Amino acid sequence: MSILITNIKELLQVRDTNITIVKGKDMKTLPILKNAYVLIEHDTIVEFGCMDDFESLEADEVIDAKGKIVLPAWCDSHTHIVYAGDRTQEFVDRINGLSYEDIANRGGGILNSAETLQNTSEDDLYAQAAKRLREVIKLGTGAIEIKSGYGLTVEAELKMLRVIKRLKFDFPIHIKPTLLAAHAIPKAFKNNKDGFIELVVNEMIPAVANEKLADYIDVFCEKGYFDLEDTNRVLSAGIKHGLTPKIHVNQFNAFGGVSLGVKHNALSVDHLEELSDDDINALQQSQTMPVALPSCSYFLSIPYTPGRKIIDAGLPLALATDYNPGSTPSGNMNFVVSTACIKMKLTPEEAINAATINGAYAMGISNLYGSICRGKKANLIITKELPNYYHLPYAFGDNAIETVIINGEKY
Ligand code: NIG
Ligand code: FE
Repeated sequence: MSILITNIKELLQVRDTNITIVKGKDMKTLPILKNAYVLIEHDTIVEFGCMDDFESLEADEVIDAKGKIVLPAWCDSHTHIVYAGDRTQEFVDRINGLSYEDIANRGGGILNSAETLQNTSEDDLYAQAAKRLREVIKLGTGAIEIKSGYGLTVEAELKMLRVIKRLKFDFPIHIKPTLLAAHAIPKAFKNNKDGFIELVVNEMIPAVANEKLADYIDVFCEKGYFDLEDTNRVLSAGIKHGLTPKIHVNQFNAFGGVSLGVKHNALSVDHLEELSDDDINALQQSQTMPVALPSCSYFLSIPYTPGRKIIDAGLPLALATDYNPGSTPSGNMNFVVSTACIKMKLTPEEAINAATINGAYAMGISNLYGSICRGKKANLIITKELPNYYHLPYAFGDNAIETVIINGEKY
């Protein structure tokens, strides 16, 4: 099967050489070809160029993209889309004055989702997650990371990760599974956090590694959840079992989690709504990707990650949704890109780099995803007719997407 897309008004993120990350000032550059074409064979981008230089190419299907923008599908490197039910009551409670912390302190929040998930069958959980995944693909997501973390028992964490494995098998998009082993202290361990860490280290991580159900190990490193020592123990155990760290850190408090992540060569450190100069310094000495989750800030009314500060310090930045029932019930990367521009003052070019190539880096797949490059996977978004690509972040809330191509096939 081959597809030729012709007359593309603007072809974004087109790279002659295969880059895998964009940092600092370079994030302001988003290479564009105007009046362009792309040729896809099977699941791969094989050629692109300007229509002026176009010599007739054979293809099974030709898509005329006159007036339309084509760009790489979004790479969403941080989600929790496998969950059961919702937390709408907590949403209303927050409107009425309770904070995210208040709700967690009275046994709601993550523990609420864990209880629901433990009482949900694997098939039901799969059906709920599959529906969300279908929706985010239609919104242009072409590669995604999915975390466990609402199980909080060995059995329920395995259930979540088996659902992710089934999604990997059934869906065409690239899926990276993460064991979010220490997400909250379960009720059964309320006064015995160490006992829970022992369970994670001695049973949960080995069981997951044994079934090869995860690539990454994650911890919610935060006051009231897991401190530096806990995080260190869980990450070390994960690494021993071949899992790479990607951590939740600095969502509400900055107390050294970023440096700890860097020390363990974390692939990414995510959230960073609070960020100290020490954190910036640590990141400057690392290969670790900082990841911002602006939809979470929007939904919880907490500060936005200081993306400008991060990029201006010469660092890379990725953007992801954090799709989950408590802090971000939305998997819309278009909204993320728009919000990053509006609230974090990223330029459209920076935001699109952050949501494509750098998102792919934060999943360890930027050699094959996240830019329009010969030999890379044909995961593309074709928009409706638009005046220019600024309209993607500018017309926030609009659905600008007409077609999504995943692995060389229309979704
Ligand atoms: O990334 N902060 C920790 N974990 C999730 C939210 C969990 C929840 O509230 O269900 C997050 O925001
Ligand atoms: Fe998260």
